[in-house]
Amino acid sequence: MLVLELLLLIFVLVVGLSIVWSTLQTGISPMMSSGKACRAMLAAGNNPVDGPLVDLGCGWGTLVIALAREHPRHQVIGYELSWFPWLVSLIRKYSLRLDNLTIYRKDFTKADFSKASILFCYLFPEGMVALHEKLQRELFQDILIVSNTFALPSCQPITVTRLNDVYHTPVYVYEWRSTCSW
Ligand SMILES: C[S@@+](CC[C@H](N)C(=O)[O-])C[C@H]1O[C@@H](n2cnc3c(N)ncnc32)[C@H](O)[C@@H]1O
Repeated sequence: MLVLELLLLIFVLVVGLSIVWSTLQTGISPMMSSGKACRAMLAAGNNPVDGPLVDLGCGWGTLVIALAREHPRHQVIGYELSWFPWLVSLIRKYSLRLDNLTIYRKDFTKADFSKASILFCYLFPEGMVALHEKLQRELFQDILIVSNTFALPSCQPITVTRLNDVYHTPVYVYEWRSTCSW
């Protein structure tokens, strides 16, 4: 019994430390979008054109799984760097048999968005700057971007929905290129 308890304690410590480490590395914890934020983000992207729906930092899979269920005919992609949330989202994907969902343990700044139809994110200010720089360098087609809480620099959102929560959390929707300055 003591050995089991010790192993469990070591596991919890390793997972906890890995989450702290990846939070320091990426700049954001794997905090999930609230139910209200998920619903607002799903509503903002409810009419996707052809091309994958992509969650930039899918955490425990909260949003990416909701997207895959809502759009069974669309390919849905999640990128996540933190290994334990990535593993949990992968287990959720397989247990729900979501064949249209692919989850990569990869830095989204190294991914190719050229075929994506909508990018979803819940990042942090510096992460939004990094995303803006990547889009400026690499993305030359029109694309929708839906961001929970954080705005994309130098871009005018086409809509801002304020959630009915204590922070009146904004959900921004952008049309990349047409409403962004270079
Ligand atoms: C606040 S969570 C959002 C989780 C999920 N998208 C949701 O809305 O519930 C942000 C996640 O982005 C991940 N992340 C941050 N920068 C990343 C990067 N460059 N590449 C991949 N994942 C990243 C973090 O590890 C974290 O799990």
